[in-house]
Amino acid sequence: MVSVFLVLTLAGFVQAAEHVHSHTMTPEMHRQHMAMDLTQKEWTACRKSLSAGDFAAAGASLLLLQKAAGELEEFQPHRNAQRMEDFRKQAQSFILNLSDLGKAIGERDKARTQSLSRTIEKGCTQCHGAFR
Ligand code: HEC
Repeated sequence: MVSVFLVLTLAGFVQAAEHVHSHTMTPEMHRQHMAMDLTQKEWTACRKSLSAGDFAAAGASLLLLQKAAGELEEFQPHRNAQRMEDFRKQAQSFILNLSDLGKAIGERDKARTQSLSRTIEKGCTQCHGAFR
């Protein structure tokens, strides 16, 4: 009798755990969080290097950022998920702006890196405003 009770209790725990899990983090959600965490980290590093005038370090951070941001093309946003067309457009222009920034860094064009940084920053805010 005690063991039946135990088994039922355990089964209840497992079910509860699975329930919580499926609502907090599916594998693709986890991927998206990881990609955005990296995006955030490398973007901060890139901006810091740019304001210190360290183009080489900025370029290295940007490469990592581009790799992480490339995942945006596979994202399934949870909010406004029906607006995929708009999401893809924003992801693509964000990725293009990153590659323009890469060129400006290569040319050590400080003014252009500054204006592109502002555009990129707006891209984060705009996309989050609709889809995060
Ligand atoms: C094209 C859309 C888009 C762009 C551009 C974008 N993000 Fe995101 N971001 C998202 C979405 C969607 C989420 C929510 C992800 C989820 O819940 O799975 C998110 C979540 C985040 C998070 C939270 C991560 C977490 O653990 O949930 C951070 C931090 C973040 N973004 C930083 C940035 C930064 C910094 C930039 C710009 C340099 C940026 N993002 C650009 C779509 C975007």
